[in-house]
Amino acid sequence: MPLFNWSDKYSVGVYMFDTQHKRLVDLINDLHDAMRAAKGREVLGDTLKGLLDYTRMHFADEERQMTTFSYPDYSAHKVEHERLVAKVVELKGKHDAGDNTITIETMNFLKDWLINHILVTDKKYGQFFKDRGIV
Ligand SMILES: [Fe+2]
Ligand SMILES: [Fe+2]
Repeated sequence: MPLFNWSDKYSVGVYMFDTQHKRLVDLINDLHDAMRAAKGREVLGDTLKGLLDYTRMHFADEERQMTTFSYPDYSAHKVEHERLVAKVVELKGKHDAGDNTITIETMNFLKDWLINHILVTDKKYGQFFKDRGIV
């Protein structure tokens, strides 16, 4: 059972970023499934790495687009990205060090963070990019 399902209310109005957000939702669901199914450390480690890599790529794409168009909220937006990456790096570091306590609280944190970031922070750039012909 997925931890959460994509719905159109999460759309930021930019096709590429919606597609990337859907993939992030899938990756968080995969991590949740791996945790719930008590999959081996290796599977969990690989899933975490996949989430971290994809998150970094997505954030870099958003930041590149914001820089290109001199998005006014760029700095604050980037700080949010950096905080989440630091959190996932910490999580992966703990896991790599033998800590097996990726919990439902952690999963809920990731889910809530992503939902909140998309609905509040990412949504803000929707109109801005639309006005510049990026949809
Ligand atoms: Fe973002
Ligand atoms: Fe995003």
